[in-house]
Amino acid sequence: MSKFEELDMLKNDMEADAGLPFFGKANLVFGEGHPDAKVLFIGEAPGFYEDRERRPFVGRAGQLLNKMLLDIGWRRESVYITNIVKRRPPENRDPEPTEIEAYKPYLKRQLAVIQPKIIATLGRFSMNYFLPKAKISLDHGKVADFSAKGGSASGGKKYPLVYILYHPAAALRSTSVLLEFEKDFKRLPALLKRYERGSIKA
Ligand code: URA
Repeated sequence: MSKFEELDMLKNDMEADAGLPFFGKANLVFGEGHPDAKVLFIGEAPGFYEDRERRPFVGRAGQLLNKMLLDIGWRRESVYITNIVKRRPPENRDPEPTEIEAYKPYLKRQLAVIQPKIIATLGRFSMNYFLPKAKISLDHGKVADFSAKGGSASGGKKYPLVYILYHPAAALRSTSVLLEFEKDFKRLPALLKRYERGSIKA
């Protein structure tokens, strides 16, 4: 089965799972991008526009993400973009730990199919999913070896690098966060090159 087919099957399984939080109340926003993406961006949960279009990061935060991808010369279709929780929580509230937990088996499968080289976390929920002890204000722009930190959330596969980024919505609320977000984001191409050359060890 191709990766594309595997992802499609996973999406169908999610559509059918009535036990998932917000089932029947919000649309499934599965994620999109290249099934062989080297870099996977992962946010928190869909918002209003994402729910409406059933696509991740299509609102204002998504526009900033698109601009940053353009700045570093990466096409949006060449990466993969998804969220930890794949349906919009009511009034865009923060996802609860039990809700994150409920989506986890599916996220694990999604990551195991795509097998990105770098998982770029957007915001603290996504960061803490992989790195429970990390603090965004201290750790943004850092690379973590997820597999070394009890990486069971990875679906049993090795996910060499987790790269911590601020959430683009946070960057839109504060100029100082925006500057940090841009600076960290622009390091992605060099980070990927170094990783591929083997000069960053997982
Ligand atoms: N914020 C997120 O975390 N994810 C989206 O898809 C959109 C906004």
